[in-house]
Amino acid sequence: MTAPLTSPQPPAAGGTMIAIEAVSKWYGEVRVLSGCSTAVTRGEVVVVCGPSGSGKSTLLKCVNALEPFQEGQITVDGTRVRDKATNLPRLRARVGMVFQHFELFPHLSVLDNLTLAPRKVLGRSKAEATQRGLDLLARVGLSAHAHKHPGQLSGGQQQRVAIARALAMDPVVMLFDEPTSALDPEMVGEVLDVMVELARDGMTMMVVTHEMGFARKVADRVVFMDRGEIVEDVAKDAFFDRPRSERAQQFLSRILAH
Ligand SMILES: Nc1ncnc2c1ncn2[C@@H]1O[C@H](COP(=O)(O)OP(=O)(O)OP(=O)(O)O)[C@@H](O)[C@H]1O
Ligand SMILES: [Mg+2]
Repeated sequence: MTAPLTSPQPPAAGGTMIAIEAVSKWYGEVRVLSGCSTAVTRGEVVVVCGPSGSGKSTLLKCVNALEPFQEGQITVDGTRVRDKATNLPRLRARVGMVFQHFELFPHLSVLDNLTLAPRKVLGRSKAEATQRGLDLLARVGLSAHAHKHPGQLSGGQQQRVAIARALAMDPVVMLFDEPTSALDPEMVGEVLDVMVELARDGMTMMVVTHEMGFARKVADRVVFMDRGEIVEDVAKDAFFDRPRSERAQQFLSRILAH
């Protein structure tokens, strides 16, 4: 038995962790999100998929306020993202984000990558942050690499460090944007394994991915986007077995053909 990757969250405690209500966003004249609504319940894993340019990354960036949006409302664990009174750095500290490119600090050791934000943002002591960092490294299988620099690790290892770094902030939700799509194929599995474990520990997750095996294994629901709209938002089995829209059917047949 390994210890869980996260501090325990009340399993199936209910309650909406992320509420996305009628969100629209424009880049200049171009509307990239159109009336998007969905919700993620505490402990739920939602996979977001859809063609390139459909707005998946933009939607995720709106959730942790990396991008502004012009209409609608997003609420994360009771905090309104667009509210002027919202302390955005504090909100972002509670939302873990893992991107396609790991964006680790290249000049810092792996361990220092994990302890920097908890010390600076959460005010943790060096000893406390170090202990938590080492625990997390153990759980993503990288204890032996704590004192290396990111450049000395493989892509899969770096992405596991990036996940551990996000977890070091004790986020209430984790957002992933194609975390495996830049990796060599033989490294995809080790990163997905960490994500599967995280899902099973009860972490609330929104995951943009085309890894349909992962989606089948751990997703509760699938959100399918096309041209800035949420076209389907259904239970996993319904999405894979009986996609309703023609656009989702076409997308699935293309992606599953490989
Ligand atoms: N900074 C930006 N300025 C202008 N347009 C942008 C910007 N970022 C994204 N877009 C446009 O917004 C739309 C949605 O892009 P987004 O990156 O969210 O799509 P995506 O579904 O994540 O695609 P992909 O699968 O290729 O990652 C696209 O038409 C894109 O060209
Ligand atoms: Mg994207």
